Amino acid sequence: MSTATSLRRPPRVLISGGSIAGPAIAWWFTRYGFHTTLVERWPGLRPGGQNIDVSNQGREIARRMSLEQPILDANTGEKGTVFTDLQGRARISMPLEPGSVSPTNETEILRGSFAQLLYDATSKTTDWRFGDQIKQVDEHEDRVDIVFQSGKQETFDIVVLADGVGSRTRKLVFPPQDIEFKKLGVYIAYFMYPRDPNDPLANQWVVTNLPGKRALSFRPGGPGLTSAFLMWCSPESQGYEKLPQADQIAAIREHLLYPSVPNSTITQRALQGLSATTEVYLEYTGQIHAKHLHTPTGRIGMIGDAAYCGTALSGAGTTLSLVGAYILAGELARHRDDPRAGMKAYEAWMAPFAAQLQDLPPGVPQIVLPQTELGIRVLHGIGRLMLWLSKFRVVQWAAGKVFVPGEVDRIPLPDYREYEVVLDEKK
Ligand SMILES: Cc1cc2nc3c(=O)[nH]c(=O)nc-3n(C[C@H](O)[C@H](O)[C@H](O)COP(=O)(O)OP(=O)(O)OC[C@H]3O[C@@H](n4cnc5c(N)ncnc54)[C@H](O)[C@@H]3O)c2cc1C
Ligand SMILES: *[C@@H]1O[C@H](CO)[C@@H](O)[C@H](O)[C@H]1NC(C)=O
Ligand SMILES: *[C@@H]1O[C@H](CO)[C@@H](O)[C@H](O)[C@H]1NC(C)=O
Repeated sequence: MSTATSLRRPPRVLISGGSIAGPAIAWWFTRYGFHTTLVERWPGLRPGGQNIDVSNQGREIARRMSLEQPILDANTGEKGTVFTDLQGRARISMPLEPGSVSPTNETEILRGSFAQLLYDATSKTTDWRFGDQIKQVDEHEDRVDIVFQSGKQETFDIVVLADGVGSRTRKLVFPPQDIEFKKLGVYIAYFMYPRDPNDPLANQWVVTNLPGKRALSFRPGGPGLTSAFLMWCSPESQGYEKLPQADQIAAIREHLLYPSVPNSTITQRALQGLSATTEVYLEYTGQIHAKHLHTPTGRIGMIGDAAYCGTALSGAGTTLSLVGAYILAGELARHRDDPRAGMKAYEAWMAPFAAQLQDLPPGVPQIVLPQTELGIRVLHGIGRLMLWLSKFRVVQWAAGKVFVPGEVDRIPLPDYREYEVVLDEKK
């Protein structure tokens, strides 16, 4: 039961996690006149991460936050996508052109750059606290009492968990049987290294399948850098994600020198990059499927990867984060007197949306990671055929039904403008 007294003053919200989802919801809460505190475990704004793209409804939300142009300005410079063979010869080319079909979009940005934009947009209005985290949560019908790692104790009206796929605070709040980690059976090992200016494909996203259910990817990774990843199938986690960086690099090298992988231009390029790497990140990919996006009292909710991680394979992590932030803040503004009703409305809107974006095409990722060179040639053949067919309107329509994640791109966003109290200085 929410008490009327708690509603005269601005609701106090605590947000855990300062990457994408966390600052995005802080921005919207501020807009609706809520008071926001954001706690980030790292000692400062966390740099790093590779390319993400802000698409569809996510881009619409960025536009409403006046961040669309800054995102375009921070573009990684990627000019298209090329699938190559092991010698680096183009097999399928998908340039970034108006009306073309390409995995490359003009909104390609590095995760770290986007996090910085969101920080800049909230640093004056949100109480950012670095180097601390929630240690203990005591939830009541009318408030949440928090003990921080630093020893500080405070009370909030609402707590939002936005601390990523491995969220520890989620474990403090939700029963383990309500959270499913659905493994996808692939490792992705990301590494950044200085870009070779003489590389003719330096401005392209180069994707190369390797025999043995593996794939390599190289993309422009911001000024002077290439961001690469190696992906390989593994039915179970092998614990690499817990190893120190030097051991992770050794593991990636081992998987590049795997017996089924021929010594080739592309593997040489990856090995060279790996030996000059400036940043490595290795994950055993899995999605988060949560039974509920909030607690029964409606005082604690989750957004972003903590709540519905789709993994890099869905390509939708950023969009889900921005949409979740927008909907949760909007519904809590609409139901200012009744957070439980606000959380319920958020879950009712968000859960089916997230389920659609998390839903990968049948057989992905294994189906796009063939075992043999013949399998790879077949995959490229199918890809070229699809690309050729996509030039025809009727096929576009039919292919849209199979390859584009459903009608989800066209679901309209609710309008919460009537709850805004902070006016856009530009309007
Ligand atoms: C360093 C980094 C690199 C990434 N690289 C890529 C990439 O290359 N490609 C890709 O597709 N996606 C990447 N991601 C994931 C991508 O950011 C998310 O899929 C998506 O943007 C949703 O973001 P999120 O804000 O929900 O979660 P995340 O981006 O995972 O952010 C979670 C934040 O919470 C913080 N945190 C964790 N635990 C706590 C705690 N207990 N208390 C307080 N704060 C906590 C973390 O430090 C982090 O800043 C990366 C994320 C991070 C943090
Ligand atoms: C980039 O994505 C947006 C949707 O987010 C789409 O409207 C636009 O056409 C895409 N750009 C290109 C060049 O495909
Ligand atoms: C791969 O080939 C290159 C040159 O063709 C050679 O320099 C390198 O040593 C070879 N690597 C392995 C692991 O055989």
